[in-house]
Amino acid sequence: MNSRPGPHFSLAGRVAVVTGGASGIGRAIVDRFVAAGASVSVLDRRPGGFAHREVACVEADVSDEAAVASALESIRDLYGRLDIVVNNAGIQPLGVGFDELTGDLLDRTFAVNVKGVAYGIKHAGRLMELGGRIVNTGSFVGLTGIPGGAAYATSKAAVVHLTRLAAIEFASRGITVNCVCPGTIRTPAVTEIPDNPEIPFAEQRTPLGRLGEPEEIAAAFHFLASPEASYITGAILSVDGGIGAGWERYDTVPPANVVDGGWKDD
Ligand SMILES: NC(=O)c1ccc[n+]([C@@H]2O[C@H](COP(=O)([O-])OP(=O)(O)OC[C@H]3O[C@@H](n4cnc5c(N)ncnc54)[C@H](O)[C@@H]3O)[C@@H](O)[C@H]2O)c1
Repeated sequence: MNSRPGPHFSLAGRVAVVTGGASGIGRAIVDRFVAAGASVSVLDRRPGGFAHREVACVEADVSDEAAVASALESIRDLYGRLDIVVNNAGIQPLGVGFDELTGDLLDRTFAVNVKGVAYGIKHAGRLMELGGRIVNTGSFVGLTGIPGGAAYATSKAAVVHLTRLAAIEFASRGITVNCVCPGTIRTPAVTEIPDNPEIPFAEQRTPLGRLGEPEEIAAAFHFLASPEASYITGAILSVDGGIGAGWERYDTVPPANVVDGGWKDD
């Protein structure tokens, strides 16, 4: 072998789109992709104060299929290719139990978190003529149960399954599809809730003892979007400080067969 690998995890020459890239986790992904050499565009419903010298921002709502299709098309037309799509935009209506659950909440949560990801996958698949990478944002609550998650956690469970199904359908086109499932991350969606009880709870419950930072989530997206992840598709990667690994407490006592640290058969 005399061909030498390029710089590790380089995204040079790649054209990337990050939905929900104007804030939080998406914003950190944008910074990371730019640093790795990609041409990055943001698709966000509220670009607000988003300003990045090297990044274009398209105002669009991911629940609107025509808007997603035309935003991705215009980015593909501008750069002549589309390589990486991160379906990250999401709303997080946690803390709403079945007793309070409404059709309105279910409709909007599924419109953004499920339809939005499905449209992103569909049109990325159509426009990635040279193969590519799709990375979706799930959540640890899409993999395990929490109270008050009927709308949100269920929508994230759907994102996990959409990932697997798209990975299967797109494999022959050279497009990989993966999902990152964050734990509780220090973003405006979490920190802007006054006295949010989720913060101390997550700090106490997460094995690593703290919230995650957006940059720690962005690192996983970068890896899955990179050439080095070429043989990974349909994977669900938890980046959650260990909160998805198990319960901090489960009350048990050893049976009578455990004697002096060994096992005594009946
Ligand atoms: N922060 C966490 O603890 C956490 C944990 C697990 C998963 N997530 C997921 O990570 C993703 C990003 O969350 P965040 O914490 O960075 O939130 P955030 O609120 O800081 O950012 C979300 C971004 O998505 C955009 N957005 C929302 N609805 C949109 C729509 N319909 N169309 C286009 N853009 C839209 C917002 O304008 C915002 O810029 C979400 O999918 C969220 O569910 C977050």
